[in-house]
Amino acid sequence: MMADMYAQLRANVHLLGSVLGETIFAEQGEEFLNRIEAVRKLSKASRNGDDDARGQMLAMLAELPDHELVPFASAFNQFLNLANIAEQHHSISRNCDELVCVPDPVEQLLNRLLKGKAKLEPQHIQAELEKLDIDLVLTAHPTEITRRTLIKKYTHLIDCLSEKENPQLSRLEKKRNQLRIRQLVAQIWHTDEIRDQRPTPVDEAQWGMATVEASLWQAVPEFLRQLSEQIQEHTGALLPPHVAPVKFSSWMGGDRDGNPNVTAAVTEEVLLRNRLTATRLYLEEINLLHSELSMSRCDDALRQEVGEVREPYRVVLKDLKKRLQRTQEYLEQRLDGYAPDNRCNSLIWQRSDLLTPLELIYHSLLNSGMHLIANGSLLDTIRRVHCFGCTLVRVDIRQSSDRHADAIAEATRYLGLGDYNHWSEEEKQAFLLRELSNRRPLLPHHWQASEETQEVLDTCRLVGEQSQEALGSYVISMAAAPSDVLAVALLLKECDCPFALPIVPLFETLSDLDNAASVMQSLFTIDWYLGYCRGRQQVMIGYSDSAKDAGVMAASWAQYRAQEALVEICRSADVALTLFHGRGGSIGRGGGPAHQAILSQPPGSVDSRLRVTEQGEMIRFKFGVPQVAVQSLALYTSAVLEATLLPPPAPKPEWRALFDEIAATSVEAYREIVWHDEDFVPYFRAATPEQELAALPLGSRPAKRRADGGVESLRAIPWIFAWTQNRLNLPAWLGAGEALKKAVEAGHRDTMREMFKQWPLFSTRLSMLEMVYAKAEPNLARYYEQILVPSTLHPLGEELRQRLQTGIDCILDLTQEQSLMELTPWSKESVALRHPYIDPLNFLQAELLRRCRKENDSAELQQALMITIAGIAAGLRNTG
Ligand code: PGA
Repeated sequence: MMADMYAQLRANVHLLGSVLGETIFAEQGEEFLNRIEAVRKLSKASRNGDDDARGQMLAMLAELPDHELVPFASAFNQFLNLANIAEQHHSISRNCDELVCVPDPVEQLLNRLLKGKAKLEPQHIQAELEKLDIDLVLTAHPTEITRRTLIKKYTHLIDCLSEKENPQLSRLEKKRNQLRIRQLVAQIWHTDEIRDQRPTPVDEAQWGMATVEASLWQAVPEFLRQLSEQIQEHTGALLPPHVAPVKFSSWMGGDRDGNPNVTAAVTEEVLLRNRLTATRLYLEEINLLHSELSMSRCDDALRQEVGEVREPYRVVLKDLKKRLQRTQEYLEQRLDGYAPDNRCNSLIWQRSDLLTPLELIYHSLLNSGMHLIANGSLLDTIRRVHCFGCTLVRVDIRQSSDRHADAIAEATRYLGLGDYNHWSEEEKQAFLLRELSNRRPLLPHHWQASEETQEVLDTCRLVGEQSQEALGSYVISMAAAPSDVLAVALLLKECDCPFALPIVPLFETLSDLDNAASVMQSLFTIDWYLGYCRGRQQVMIGYSDSAKDAGVMAASWAQYRAQEALVEICRSADVALTLFHGRGGSIGRGGGPAHQAILSQPPGSVDSRLRVTEQGEMIRFKFGVPQVAVQSLALYTSAVLEATLLPPPAPKPEWRALFDEIAATSVEAYREIVWHDEDFVPYFRAATPEQELAALPLGSRPAKRRADGGVESLRAIPWIFAWTQNRLNLPAWLGAGEALKKAVEAGHRDTMREMFKQWPLFSTRLSMLEMVYAKAEPNLARYYEQILVPSTLHPLGEELRQRLQTGIDCILDLTQEQSLMELTPWSKESVALRHPYIDPLNFLQAELLRRCRKENDSAELQQALMITIAGIAAGLRNTG
């Protein structure tokens, strides 16, 4: 039954797999291919409990000669990538079945809102929809292991699979399609899958723009058209052109937290490049409109603008085109290092520069009875302008709080005022506020600051030189006190920033989350700050660092409570709060289905506004292909609308009390191991590829915040990545199971079952745990231990696996399921499909780690090791 449901998907997996097989056969010969096939079969058998098969497979892997390591790892890696392609295609396929593809979430929600218990008026829904402000922030986080060039080929394969579905293809077209698939698979097979150099921040930003250009640029107007039609069905009116519920920001080229490669010069280049891409895309649009809008009837407003001409629309468009061309030239010159001073009104620099002429012709068409024409390509362009502005994305700046404090401390020392870093919080605030209200600048012009401080100042100066539309917010990582926010405000003032850029504290440790509301409350008692923020405040919640600090269970509860308290504080200060969620892709970093995540936030915390990070491979999975992106946009829109209109219930006091207990036990259990067990760090270093990962040129930023730091300074991404590779997934569950068990033993089982059924936060937390438990492979982790970890540390490994089992038993007991993920058969199937390919990569990785660490470290071994890392990440659809 199950197999039938996935028949179409399986057929495509099979097709791509066999084309890959043919390609490998052609290059490596039959014997090699047979060995791959044998290992795959043995791997399957070993999974079904056949120990002989496992022994045989391990022997085959151990015997692989060096020159076969790379093709061997590549074969499994590419198979997994192709399986991902088939799966991604399936979610947009015409033959998609309902277990894999979500029915349109907006449609479903509208039905529920209009007809369900809520029985809302269509106009009310439309008004809410117009208020939505969802900002998806594309980060440059190093979680995309796949090379850009391969991503493009994978995307072409998806196009081929879509084309293949057309039953009307002629015989010749079918043949061409097959040939193209074979060509693409061959290109993939013969391309090195590992980057040979670290990307620069500018490269990263260019990749981000490539996604915008190749996918979002199409997807946004398509999604809005769809949304408009859905709304029109109920209200009879189109969605107004200015409504853009989802917009995009980016950290690419702007996030300098722990990344010395992102300098002011880099940010400036990225800002110019983003504009250039936008200008180029608008030029294409305007050319298209110019060819379409050859009409002559127009309204008075347009007539007044262009005079008596035969084709008034074209006159406006021609002028716009000229200005875009001038803008393009200007930007190219700036990027070539010239500073032409023709930055005058004639360039297209602000959203309104595009909107004014486009709206003029739009209204003229409407007023002249040409609705059909107005609401075609022209409406799409106008909608693009509302969403993408003149820069496609708004770039955020992010820097760590200590860098700002150090810069100010350097200045106070220079000025003989003492050392800012040694002052109390009250003294800091008093000083900052004095200086913020002072008309005279603090920093003398001739001051030669240290390189680090100069960089901070250069960035603030650059910010002040931009038009505000090009920028999002200034995010302060590791924020802990009101002075962290005021310090940035002072630095911006000192650099003559003429506008009030939103300054956003990012709270990302357990204690900082606990203090978040009181920090904001203090800020809201400061008149100067209230004047600065003008009734709006963004606060960022750090999911992965808090989980790394306290374990997932305690972190989730702290995040929830912090949000609740922030909602309260902002409400009483009459400040509109936007919560900015710094979620990673993987569950240990706060990832998981967006819909579920949004609906499990505290009541009142969404209120039409949401900012959330999207990172690396998740950008590809959710937004890499236009049709998939349309689905993702619909998902976000419906979730935010639902959380606003039908907020989840507030938890009962006894649920809160119990979660307090669970969180307290879990943070203790987590820290007992991660912080206090002396064997832990050596175990982590030996049992996972943590050290080797640092050599993988994934992103532009270093793996650690401090080059000489220990595990505490390791970024959350490589921390999770390392444990994902050895399949223990420890950061995503450690502490949780122990705490749940203790609560059950204390007699709370029934309450917990009730919480699971009725409280979205708790049920999401448990489902996420269930998912990571299902992906954990203690047997594989044990194998890593056997061959990589000194035997004195084995007892710790045993204990960790026991804790894992405790958690699994407890979850099954609470959810009353027989086996993990019973309620999500599709995810279960998808994981199962990949096992025979991932397992050999894991065994091989352990073997390669052993060889690299002990014997030799040849380029071939290194390369093969990197491919196993990429392959496991592809198989699990998660890097870190
Ligand atoms: P950060 O992000 O290390 O850049 O704060 C962590 C993450 O997204 O996991």
